[in-house]
Amino acid sequence: MALIADFLTKSEDDTHDVGQKIARHLSFPDCVYLRGEMGAGKTTLCKSLIHAFGYTGEVTSPTYNLVQEYPVANGVIYHMDLYRLDDPEELEFLAIDDLWSQSSIFLIEWPQRAGSGLIPATKSISLEHIGSDQRVIRVLDSDSTQF
Ligand SMILES: Nc1ncnc2c1ncn2[C@@H]1O[C@H](COP(=O)(O)OP(=O)(O)OP(=O)(O)O)[C@@H](O)[C@H]1O
Ligand SMILES: [Mg+2]
Repeated sequence: MALIADFLTKSEDDTHDVGQKIARHLSFPDCVYLRGEMGAGKTTLCKSLIHAFGYTGEVTSPTYNLVQEYPVANGVIYHMDLYRLDDPEELEFLAIDDLWSQSSIFLIEWPQRAGSGLIPATKSISLEHIGSDQRVIRVLDSDSTQF
């Protein structure tokens, strides 16, 4: 497992700028797990990643519908938040596997809620709070649980 990039951000705006840089490390197809506590900035970062791929509309948190899709020039970005998944078996109803293709990018918040049935990560991003406004953001070339 290798570290691709490492950032310290000092504000939400900073995290938006870092999103532009991280987007350059992503390509179709990529399955990205985002790990970090509540409020660590996973959704904030996903918004800037989706905009970095050219999506110009509003990006909202997928807290309630679990999966939101954003068509961009070279494919589709699927943003998922699995926090509200009560049982890993519910994953089947979401039919996430059917969304996966050569022209997909998955951005998955709370992947650990899905158990072992989730499509494996090709990259992962960990976000760590330091005080209220600083975040350490790490991009790795696969899942970061053992990092
Ligand atoms: N450096 C920073 N980077 C990102 N967000 C920051 C930063 N400093 C403060 N914030 C604030 O932290 C919050 C991050 O919320 P966000 O919804 O992105 O977190 P999350 O990790 O997706 O949480 P959840 O697990 O609930 O989905 C926002 O209110 C944002 O304004
Ligand atoms: Mg979130």
